[in-house]
Amino acid sequence: MNTTEVLSEFASDVKEGLLQFPKRLPSKYFYNEKGDYLFQQIMHLEEYYLTNAEFEVFEENKAEILKAFLGVDGEFRLVELGAGDGTKTKVLLNHFVSKGTKFTYSPIDISGSVLDGLTNALAQEIPALSVEPIKGDYFKALAGLKRNNSMKEVVLFLGSNIGNFMGKSGETFLRKLGEDMSKGDLLLIGFDMMKNPEKVLAAYNDAMGVTREFNLNLLDRINEELGANFDRNNFQHFPTYDPITGETKSHLVSKCTQNVHIAALDETFEFKAWEAIHTEVSQKFSHQMIEQLAKHAGFRIVQNFTDSNEYFVDSLWEKL
Ligand SMILES: C[S@@+](CC[C@H](N)C(=O)[O-])C[C@H]1O[C@@H](n2cnc3c(N)ncnc32)[C@H](O)[C@@H]1O
Repeated sequence: MNTTEVLSEFASDVKEGLLQFPKRLPSKYFYNEKGDYLFQQIMHLEEYYLTNAEFEVFEENKAEILKAFLGVDGEFRLVELGAGDGTKTKVLLNHFVSKGTKFTYSPIDISGSVLDGLTNALAQEIPALSVEPIKGDYFKALAGLKRNNSMKEVVLFLGSNIGNFMGKSGETFLRKLGEDMSKGDLLLIGFDMMKNPEKVLAAYNDAMGVTREFNLNLLDRINEELGANFDRNNFQHFPTYDPITGETKSHLVSKCTQNVHIAALDETFEFKAWEAIHTEVSQKFSHQMIEQLAKHAGFRIVQNFTDSNEYFVDSLWEKL
């Protein structure tokens, strides 16, 4: 896809989202160069417990995870959806390479800058690793991925990426992913678990305001790439957590009645005072929810790996 097509897809997604009630903007557009940088800052925040929890899961279970990946076949192809900077994945990659495992690693990410950074870092840090990066949207990259039928495929979907799907769309995504996998292929998928609501909320509203910047950067990006005139001072970052459903949501709330013009769309959008734009969902899970999801998407849970606080679960699934 060329730059013009990406721009028009961005423009039409923004238009579609702002014409809805309530207004919304797709979270995948957080990740331009500044968004990638801010997300890396978020990952190092004290409040953002997710990084350390998943890091611990991998450090403590890397040998067990490799054993499960190797299974009876002894060889596999490793595909990672939304790889980001691969900080936690490197724990597994380093271990696999140190054990002489034969595999190719294919990180998929919509952000070219984050993917280039990861590819360069891996060439320096793990030169023996064979890397085939794919830039693009999960769905499109997956559809275009040439499958080697003779080799078992292991898909990584780490962090809380699955939590970013709204309602039933996570299940739909996993079912679609399963259609691209063969019987016996594996999926290692991260789940941020339900926990103290204060702890969850703080992770999306840190004291230093990095998550606020990350959210507002979406408006800056629309200004820069689509010629809009959002005034970021007129919007307030406001996350919520519902301990019954486990849904964390980020919003940008309009502090006054205002009009915003988007030149690329040649349209003006009205925001009423205190009207919210929904920008991100981050679902928190229970074990029961994970079991239901695996069952409905056509997978069997092989093993669950968790950290000492039981904040996070990396669940290993087999395609039925
Ligand atoms: C929250 S970060 C998580 C990164 C990494 N998996 C981790 O756990 O640290 C999400 C990553 O997924 C990528 N991403 C988000 N939506 C995507 C999509 N629809 N297709 C491909 N990549 C996407 C982003 O560019 C970003 O690098």
